[in-house]
Order: sequence, then structure tokens, then C-alpha cells
Amino acid sequence: MSDLIPVFDPATGKRIAEVPDGGRAAVDQAVARAREAFDQGVWRGKLAKERARILWRVADVVERRAEDIIEVECRNNGMARWLARNLVSSAAEIFRYYAGWVNKIHGQSTDILAEGGITGANAVYHAYTLKEPVGVAGLIIPWNGPFYVAMAKLAPALAAGCSCVLKPAEETPLTSLMIPEIMAEAGVPDGVVNVITGYGETTGAALAAHLDVDKIAFTGSTETGRLIVKAATGNLKRITLELGGKSPVLVYDDADLSKAVPGAGLGIFINAGQGCVCGSRLYVQRTIYPQVVEGLASFAKSLKLGGADDPEAQIGPIISQRQLQRVMSFIEDGRTDGAEVVTGGRALDRAGYFFEPTVVTQVRPDMRLFREEIFGPVIAVVPFDDEEEAIAGANDSSYGLAAAVWTRDIGRAHRLAKRLEAGTVWLNTQMAWDVTQPFGGYKQSGWGYEYGWEGLAAYLKTKTVYTDISG
Ligand code: NAI
Ligand code: MG
Repeated sequence: MSDLIPVFDPATGKRIAEVPDGGRAAVDQAVARAREAFDQGVWRGKLAKERARILWRVADVVERRAEDIIEVECRNNGMARWLARNLVSSAAEIFRYYAGWVNKIHGQSTDILAEGGITGANAVYHAYTLKEPVGVAGLIIPWNGPFYVAMAKLAPALAAGCSCVLKPAEETPLTSLMIPEIMAEAGVPDGVVNVITGYGETTGAALAAHLDVDKIAFTGSTETGRLIVKAATGNLKRITLELGGKSPVLVYDDADLSKAVPGAGLGIFINAGQGCVCGSRLYVQRTIYPQVVEGLASFAKSLKLGGADDPEAQIGPIISQRQLQRVMSFIEDGRTDGAEVVTGGRALDRAGYFFEPTVVTQVRPDMRLFREEIFGPVIAVVPFDDEEEAIAGANDSSYGLAAAVWTRDIGRAHRLAKRLEAGTVWLNTQMAWDVTQPFGGYKQSGWGYEYGWEGLAAYLKTKTVYTDISG
């Protein structure tokens, strides 16, 4: 008998479900099913147009069931309803996007004139490459966008022809458990998409180490990313990692502050700061520093916090008691080190794990609050005088996921885009995102790319075939 994991509604703190900690046994079973489906070719062997049609139908089923998915997602993750709606609709669109790729997966051909073939004479080769699915893909995902992140990994994996084993986070398994039914209704054959629940240290670790898994796609903390890399050494499986961030945002005094202030505000407070690309370090040109701090503080105060039952809520709770404690510990450490909390900094006095949108000043680059990913609604603001100082500060991080610049000087904007060490740079916007564009981290924010062609290529391997046509 496996242990049961309690599942909570973060807006009330109430236990709403329990799921098994599947452990090694569940992983073995799911991987065996995925392997069988892959080896028998029930999915990768289908006509491309048929696979494309099925992926398109997945999108239709998601849209048809959207209200149920949103309900469960809000209840389990706590995210505001508007955000759940956006993410569920994006999940459907990702399936449509990758449905379009299925019949466009192809290699290249080349003719090669080579000196001294095996016969000694010059040889003419015709060479071509084949793009083949990597095999069984293990997908390990976090709690901050559970349904969306699961679907964003499944879509390219399925488009490539892989079979999958998905392990959602222990905090948010409920929408992942709806996925097998969605897949079946759309016509994805049995065994191709398998979902298992469990703790990271037990079930996740067993999946990452499994010798019959060919690839792990992971989204989560940098710390766990390192463990996944180690676990993968047994069979040297392929890995893509989408990890943490401590994204800098630069605001210049020529920026349109009517856009920059709410942009930077939503860029951190959205989803209660539980987003890998959230802009948590704000560098503001000194001439406008007091004005921006004040504007940001009043924006933070204006946000309406609430649970899934409150249709007006803009921001939901933190995912768990544990994560709430973690966020509070950053604030406490910051205060002890001399940081000033301009607004927020406290948990709400109500049921659930709500934390006030928080603006912190008087921070130094060596503070824990300024270096580590908090994953809560906390933004640290520092002034800068010149461009070199701003760039040096922004790049002084082990992370490199995203960065933003607010300025009306177009030359400066593009100059900074080149110099900022981040996989995504936003100019006069934040949180812009599209499935057509690759997404990945510089430095310790990740390995490889998701979305776009690169995101599909991560589930493909390349075979080269040579034919001697010398005659
Ligand atoms: P985590 O990275 O430990 O968990 C993410 C997923 O990995 C979950 O499914 C978990 O079960 C699994 N996992 C955990 N340990 C594992 C292991 N040894 N082998 C295989 N799978 C494993 O994140 P956690 O502990 O929930 O959050 C801690 C911090 O991580 C957060 O405060 C935040 O800073 C960061 N984080 C970043 C995310 C991102 O999207 N970049 C998402 C979630 C957390
Ligand atoms: Mg962890």
C-alpha cells in the first residue's frame, strides 16, 4: 500500500482530496505501459495527419471541459479565476500549434563528394537525416501553473511521437488527473499518456532515475534540477530543465511610467509572485526613484486578493503553508539585515495562505532576499545612476531567465537587450509570451528550450543515413 498525500485548497487551508504517493512501483508500471505503447507504435506509427487531427481534438476537448478544469485548478492551486481561464485557453492553443507541426517534421538531405572512400577512390554519398521521437518522456512539473505546464510539455512530446509519464507536483495533482480522460476522449491511444502522483523525493526521483525513460522534461527549482541531472546519469537520458529566476527589471526616467509602474507591478504580483519569470529585482533610475516606489506601493495596495469563489479577486493565495513560511522567512531576514518594507510584508489575517503584495527598499545585493528566488509577491527596488551600473547589477545573478527594460530610447532598449544575460528580454512590456517563440534560461535558469520549433526538437533525435551513389 502506498502512502496517501493530502491535497489542500490554499484559499481555505482545507483538505480537499488525497492521492497516492505512487513511488517506484507506480513509476515502473507507468513506464512499462508507455514503453509498450512506444514500441508497438500505436502513436508514433499513425499517419501524421491523423496524429495532428487528434492533437487538434485535444484542444477542442479542453475547451469543451474548460469550466470543469478551471474549477478544479482554482480550488487546488488557488489562482485567480481570470488567470486560470487564460492558462486553460493557452493550453488548448499550444495543442493546436503543435498539431500544425506534426506533418512538418523532417530532416535534410545533402550530396557529399568525399575524398578516398573505403575503396580508395573518391566517393559520392547521398546523405539524409531522419527525425525520430526520443522515446518515453518523463514530465515532472511544479505547482504554480499545474494544468498549463503539463499540457505545454505534453503537446510537443506527443507531436514528436513520444509516449509520456507525467508526474504533477504533490501540492497540485488534481487537474493532471483529468488529463488521461481528456486524451482518451480526443483519441490518443491507451498507454501513450500516463499520469502518476507522488512526492518528488520518492516518485519523482524514481522517474528521473528510471533506466527505461529516455528523456526528462522538468520545470521547478534549480535545486531539484541539479538532482534530476544526477539521477539521469544511469542511462544518460536527455534532459531539458526550466528552472528558477530572479529576473531584473530596469526603469529609466524617460519611460512611460503610466505603463511601467503597473507593468512592473503585475510582472511580480501576478499569481502571487509564483512565476518563474516574475520580475523580482527592480532597478530604477535615481531621478524617478521616489515616484516609482510610491506608485508601485499604491499599485500593490490596490490589488484585490481572494480565493476562487471571489470573481473580483486579482491575486490568489500562496500554494501552501510551507511556501508561505518560506516567503515570510525572506521578509524577516531582510528586515534583520536592514531592508525596509514599504508596503505589505504580512500574511492576511484570514483562512488560507494569503500574503500581501510587498515592496521592499534599502536592499543590498548581498541580501538573501535580493539573490534567491522567493516565489512570492515580493519585489525589491534599488536606485541606479548610470547604464553600466544598471547592467552590472542586473547581470549579477546566478539566474538568467528573463529581464525587462522600460525606456523610450529605442537605441538603449536594443543595446540592453543584447547585454542582459537572460533567455527572454522584454522591452516596454513584461510577461509577454507566445508559443511560437522559444523559451529557455541562461546560466542556472535552465537547459534547452520549450515552445516553438526548439521545443519540439527537444523531443526528437536525429539519425543520419549515408548511401554510396558513386556507381
Ligand atoms: P521542486 O522543484 O522541488 O518541485 C517541482 C517538482 O519536482 C514537483 O513535481 C516535485 O515533486 C518534483 N521533485 C522534487 N524533488 C524531486 C526529486 N528529487 N526528483 C525528481 N522530482 C522531484 O519545487 P518546490 O520544492 O515545490 O519549491 C521550492 C522552490 O522552488 C520555490 O520556492 C521556488 O523558488 C522554486 N520553484 C520554481 C518553479 C519554477 O517554475 N521555476 C516552480 C516551483 C518551484
Ligand atoms: Mg522541493
